[in-house]
Amino acid sequence: MLRRQDHPDDQDHQDDQDHQDDQDHQHLRDLQDLKVLQDRPRPHAETPIDRRHFARLSIASITAAVAGRSFAASPSSSPPPTAELPGQPPSDGTLRIVHMNDWHVCPERRSVEGSAMAIEAATSGSRRPDLLLTGGDLIFDSFATTRSRAEEQWRLFKELMASSPVRVEHCLGNHDLWGWDREKSGASGDERDYGMQKALDELGLASSWRSFDLGAWHFVVLDSVVSDGGKGYRGRISPPQREWLVADLAANRLPVLVVSHIPILSLTPLTWDRDYDRGDHGRVSGSEMHLDGPALHRLFREDGRVRLCLSGHMHLEDRCEVDGIAYCCDGAVSGAWWKADPDYSLPGFAELELRPDGTFERRIRRTGWVNA
Ligand SMILES: [Fe+2]
Repeated sequence: MLRRQDHPDDQDHQDDQDHQDDQDHQHLRDLQDLKVLQDRPRPHAETPIDRRHFARLSIASITAAVAGRSFAASPSSSPPPTAELPGQPPSDGTLRIVHMNDWHVCPERRSVEGSAMAIEAATSGSRRPDLLLTGGDLIFDSFATTRSRAEEQWRLFKELMASSPVRVEHCLGNHDLWGWDREKSGASGDERDYGMQKALDELGLASSWRSFDLGAWHFVVLDSVVSDGGKGYRGRISPPQREWLVADLAANRLPVLVVSHIPILSLTPLTWDRDYDRGDHGRVSGSEMHLDGPALHRLFREDGRVRLCLSGHMHLEDRCEVDGIAYCCDGAVSGAWWKADPDYSLPGFAELELRPDGTFERRIRRTGWVNA
């Protein structure tokens, strides 16, 4: 049974980023403490990291590849709730979208290079996506981070989004809201942009939940993150959001794709080793999956048009189907927070084709980024 202190990354302090890595490791541990990961044994613990499989990639080549393209000038638009977006669906009506979650962009870890590679991989094929859904945890952390540090991360993320040649729509995650850990962030809680408002301001969004139609599909973007009453969070939607969601689904007649940062339903928490002898019988916490997942599933089942629910947060990949509704957790653009860790997915994203009849195809794409 591997525990966090045994992890190879925690013993690897001898590379060329010794000091920064030490800080980053502590920061990562702090962040994962927030996600209630610190006491949880790792799955696949016996799998070693084989660094021989990692090829060093040229930052210059990535920068050149991105710089040499003609990109849209502005980052994400901010449609009002239930807005009709101008789109160019292909003649057969099939939409192609990419779901790219858990970017965790920061000045360190070559995360900007890795994110640029992801955008390139997602948008450079023979057919460009019609939409890029970001999926949340866009910056490394704003939850337990000073304002200036959070703003530096947002600046880098927005520069990356400005390089996207396709429409971007944002879903927000727990690391995108500012200051809930007041001790580490220095926030008082009285700031106008405390919490999710700062992310909305940075991205020019009117709301952290909304919906829009594109082609033959209806897209619902949820805000998964509510306060636990202290400095933590839980996965669920707020009562006003629930009220809005019920009305939004009732007014819709198209196949529905739902995107939330935290999974509404996922098998990924069940892949962690559990210590059954100590009474851990596999209970899934509210920081791993929506506490209102069963209620949301019943709503979706009764609605009859919800076909697909996408999520991130776990940095793991799965797909399960319940009552004809597919729930997919799509790994992470950052893989294991831009580190090499076999317990998490390799850097990647999901590519989906959405047909007008409500059926779809999904495949996971790797970005090719590796930990140096
Ligand atoms: Fe994340």
